[in-house]
Amino acid sequence: CGIIGYNGKGEALPVLVEGLKKMEYRGYDSSGVAVIDNGQIKVVRASGKIKALEDKLKTTPLKGSIGIAHTRWATHGAPTETNAHPHTSYDGKISIVHNGIIENYASLKAKLISEGIEFKSETDTEVVAHLIARYYNGDLKSAVLKALKQIEGTFGLGVVCSDEPNVLIGARRGSPLILGIGNDGDFYLASDVSAIINHTQKVVYLDDNDVVQIKDGGYSIVNMSSHEVQREVQDVEFDADAVAKGGFPHFMLKEIFEQPEVLRNTMRGRLLTAEGNAKLAGLDTNIKELRNINRIIITACGTSYYAGMVGEYMIEDLAGVPVEVEYASEFRYRNPIIKPGTLVIAISQSGETADTLAALREAQQKGATALAICNGVGSTIARTSDGGVYLHAGPEIGVASTKAFTSQVTVLAMIALLLGRQRRLSFETGADIVKDLLELPDLVTETLKLSDSIAEIAKTLCKANNFLYLGRHFCYPVAMEGALKLKEISYIHAEGYPAAEMKHGPIALIDENMPVVVIAPKDSLFDKIISNIREIKARGGKVIAVTTEDCHPLDEIADHIITVPKTRPMLMPILACIPLQLLAYHIAVLRGNDVDQPRNLAKSVTVE
Ligand code: G6P
Repeated sequence: CGIIGYNGKGEALPVLVEGLKKMEYRGYDSSGVAVIDNGQIKVVRASGKIKALEDKLKTTPLKGSIGIAHTRWATHGAPTETNAHPHTSYDGKISIVHNGIIENYASLKAKLISEGIEFKSETDTEVVAHLIARYYNGDLKSAVLKALKQIEGTFGLGVVCSDEPNVLIGARRGSPLILGIGNDGDFYLASDVSAIINHTQKVVYLDDNDVVQIKDGGYSIVNMSSHEVQREVQDVEFDADAVAKGGFPHFMLKEIFEQPEVLRNTMRGRLLTAEGNAKLAGLDTNIKELRNINRIIITACGTSYYAGMVGEYMIEDLAGVPVEVEYASEFRYRNPIIKPGTLVIAISQSGETADTLAALREAQQKGATALAICNGVGSTIARTSDGGVYLHAGPEIGVASTKAFTSQVTVLAMIALLLGRQRRLSFETGADIVKDLLELPDLVTETLKLSDSIAEIAKTLCKANNFLYLGRHFCYPVAMEGALKLKEISYIHAEGYPAAEMKHGPIALIDENMPVVVIAPKDSLFDKIISNIREIKARGGKVIAVTTEDCHPLDEIADHIITVPKTRPMLMPILACIPLQLLAYHIAVLRGNDVDQPRNLAKSVTVE
């Protein structure tokens, strides 16, 4: 979900609607806005995309210079207009927008109902609006503080009150919230910096349990005990142009094509040719400790998890340290074993994924040092970790992650190199890896030239109902990621599998209607994977091979061959995943889907 708030000298509505559009990728099944218009709170909400809200606002324009707005990704209650935010208190005086989950909402709701309050929606958020109204006695800030003390769970909150038409309150606990400081007494609240970047680059990243009051051209921040706290004002790194589509029809395609530059940025200043090593400033304080770790747990969700799987193979190969990769949602609830010498690495593009954050905290709670690999600068996971590495991939807007994946794998390769050089890896091999890493951006540029031919292949496959993706060794996670990309944006059922496991189940599914994408680089396992392809062909399956050499016998048995440049096996995932990103993209476009905002998905899942 996304929150935006405005309190300033200008009209609130255009700022709010523009901000919602910038955040639409975070959640988009309903949206709404509340503006204090002539001393009254006026709310307009709509189910569906922001466009539906805009259409409504044409007939009900809201005038006023203070307001809040929200775009929703439903958790409690269906994505209807009644469940859309803002939610207003029973007396009509207080309106709020909320990200996160109120865990004790059922008991709070029961209590409020027993006091005679009628609920209009099925959301957990409505409880908060009524609770604040219950405590309101002429001072919005103190009413918010009192209400928040009753609440268990997570929130990023924006609150306005018709009795105080000059006040906007924000609060956060476990869900991101940023204060934007504009010119001439203009202030913004946002869950996502992209919502306000057109207006200001000066921001304060609020900490958990901060409550900010914006009033009469100034602001103050207090903690839950009402004590004033100081927070640093920071400059945001990226500018508005970076979030625009830059001539591409979709953000996803733009982001796929950005990958050469992204990888250059990810590696810039971090590879030491003369030492055959990597230098990652964010790990400087951990460097001695890293020498002594004897086990690594990588934890993440979605695409970041698959990057972690590549990381497992790379780190075990180069450094000989045992690595496990675990879904953050599993790790956090199953009492994981953390002993001295265990290092936890959380991977998250957004740096805000609720499960990944909780896994990181669980690891720290059990005494582990927890590092983070994030793209979101200043994100909650980045700030909670004990050290880490930023991707420097720039904002990723397309819901299906692309450039973040290749960038994450690149960071993991650098970490594997660093851990390897602390242990058994020779200077010579280290130097070779550095050289190969530095060549990658140009090889990615080469790979991207395949886009048109992949679009042609997509035409022959776009009507399929099921796909299988197979890979081995370093490219097994690529098969998983390729299947995920297709599922996410084309809504075609797809499964990723280790190629040789196919015969233990998925082979039963293969027939002439089942395209099988096989990642088959010419490496030590090439002959093995050729045998797997023969098994598919023997059952009438259609084979799309991603390989490094269009060679015999592949040319005879594959229906389509996609040839990518060659690199060392460990780095192959970075090149091999690109045709799969493009294939998913072109198929989704052919099927007429909304590529950047696929149904039911959100870019940043800040609820568990
Ligand atoms: C959501 C997104 C995925 C992403 C996953 C993890 O499901 O749609 O693209 O891989 O969350 O997100 P993170 O920001 O933690 O990498």
